[in-house]
Amino acid sequence: AIEREELIAKIKAQLIEKNAVLVAHYYVHPDLQDLAEATGGLVSDSLEMARFGRDHSAQTLVVAGVRFMGESAKILSPEKRVLVPEMDANCSLDLGCPAEEFSKFCDEHPDRTVVVYANTSAAVKARADWMVTSSIALKIVAHLKAQGKKILWAPDRHLGNYIQRETGADMVMWQGACIVHDEFKTIELEALKKQHPLAKVLVHPESPAAVVALADAVGSTSAILKAARDFDAPEFIVATDNGMMHKLRQQNPHKTFIEAPTAGNSATCKSCAHCPWMAMNGLRNVLEVLEKVGTGHNEIHIDEAIRARAKLPIDRMLDFAQ
Ligand code: 13P
Ligand code: SF4
Repeated sequence: AIEREELIAKIKAQLIEKNAVLVAHYYVHPDLQDLAEATGGLVSDSLEMARFGRDHSAQTLVVAGVRFMGESAKILSPEKRVLVPEMDANCSLDLGCPAEEFSKFCDEHPDRTVVVYANTSAAVKARADWMVTSSIALKIVAHLKAQGKKILWAPDRHLGNYIQRETGADMVMWQGACIVHDEFKTIELEALKKQHPLAKVLVHPESPAAVVALADAVGSTSAILKAARDFDAPEFIVATDNGMMHKLRQQNPHKTFIEAPTAGNSATCKSCAHCPWMAMNGLRNVLEVLEKVGTGHNEIHIDEAIRARAKLPIDRMLDFAQ
């Protein structure tokens, strides 16, 4: 415990010394979430992380999340130094959508507006017309549909299908999935609901359709937090990465939050719904990137032509979100 306190104190000092700010996702370790907030940084969803990093005056951003979040920060703020605690912290959606194959898929559908999820590489974004995060995807696709546009959607098939069901838009889809949300189990969730009849079910739309169908609220990480605050219920079953439990419990100390069942956590494992790449972020590697500022260690670089092109779909989303 002493070591943990020491690490936290050192990171705080380094953030000041290096004129850096820590931006964290809701899925990273609670220590990092608390530290981001305690030091004038931010813990939030991927949309707000991108916006905050762009607007903050610090010249160095430490992005505790996964690679695409660091890349989005760099795309928006090329003049800033963007550091990530772990270069290998990726995302199954990003890994499952390689830029070359994706580009061919786009070539096969030249009549469609290309909408990609934030969870993609800079090169994939550079091929897109729009980028969306889960908190705004539905609104943007509804807007495009109203303009008579047909959509090419990538890479998450569950989120794509959910948007398709909700908006009725004409969508062809890349068949990617999040390895965390894809694991939530319907039958086990139904059984858990029976054991907790007063519980409201909160589901991230990267989950399979049958799980989404059992939800009282479906939405991004920030939408899940809002639903938990707004529902006057004593208990909640939550189908998203269990990193979310920290903020949910912090904001709602008198409500109970239960993890939705996955194949792993039903009997043997209490914490299987956790992204292995988000879990790579910790106090030690955050301190290390700060101590090594200026050496190039874990710094995000993006080819300038790709960066400039990838910025267009992100800016479109941010302008729309205003
Ligand atoms: P949000 O956009 O809701 O923060 O989600 C990002 C993510 O990686 C979900 O698994
Ligand atoms: Fe990607 Fe899923 Fe991890 Fe989010 S939780 S970063 S979508 S693998």
